[in-house]
Amino acid sequence: MSTSTIPEILTHVDAGVMTITLNRLERKNSITSAMYGAMADALESANHDAAVRVVVIQGHESVFSAGNDIGDFLGKPPSTPDAPVFRFLRGISSFPKPIVAAVCGPAVGIGTTMLLHCDLVYAGDNAAFSMPFVNLGLCPEAASSFLVPQLMGYPRAAEALLLGEPFMAESALEMGLINRIVPPTEANALAQRQALKLAAKPLGPLMETKRLMKKGNAAIVAERMSEEAASFGRMLQEPAAREAFTAFMEKRKPDFSKV
Ligand code: COA
Repeated sequence: MSTSTIPEILTHVDAGVMTITLNRLERKNSITSAMYGAMADALESANHDAAVRVVVIQGHESVFSAGNDIGDFLGKPPSTPDAPVFRFLRGISSFPKPIVAAVCGPAVGIGTTMLLHCDLVYAGDNAAFSMPFVNLGLCPEAASSFLVPQLMGYPRAAEALLLGEPFMAESALEMGLINRIVPPTEANALAQRQALKLAAKPLGPLMETKRLMKKGNAAIVAERMSEEAASFGRMLQEPAAREAFTAFMEKRKPDFSKV
């Protein structure tokens, strides 16, 4: 079965695997609220559809995602918990079936933080991860303020989240964010192969194993995501973020000297 919701998000179900493809290359796969809504809908349908046993999330071999669409941040800021971005984040963080991701090129902001909620992540050797929330006048989302220090330790989390420094595939592998590095042309195919292996396994035991592995973090992740969302929503309206977004649109460096 092949379906597509909006052209920027393609979904396709085959052999027990739902593949969700970010397809907005001209904007480096940056994600609009309509795209978050489509991804949240796809996850919801994958959750309830017995024909789907595994989900794959992928981008293009040149770019995974440039993160949230900055124009949307200015024009349609997600200010309430039912905003599509928060619906997507709640969906992916509590998704009960396995999720496999293939990541190549830039993975900015939510392009990196959504990976914290995937079970297997395969990266191209061109993958570049970054969480520049502070540089945008914002704070982390997707429970990354909890999961990133837990994953990589506080010192490296501080470089990634306070300085907003990018890190490449080798560091991501060493820190345990990703499973394997392959040539970019092979990442999507490897994710599919691994997803098919999972899809051939009994679903009940797979889901129970995932639930048990995630149980220790589940309540903290849910609580942290809602605390982050409240701060993030407020900061979107504040001068630092407005300056950062305007500077991005005007292709200049932001000036935070007055905020
Ligand atoms: N929102 C809206 N538009 C975006 C975007 C975003 N997050 N990221 C890229 N674009 C647009 C660019 O403005 C550019 O538009 P133009 O052709 O009209 O000038 C187009 O996509 C191509 O991007 P460009 O920056 O020229 O590509 P690049 O290969 O040089 O760099 C990135 C790729 C991802 C490193 C760079 O685009 C980037 O840093 N984007 C912003 C990331 C960001 O801060 N995201 C928010 C995270 S919370």
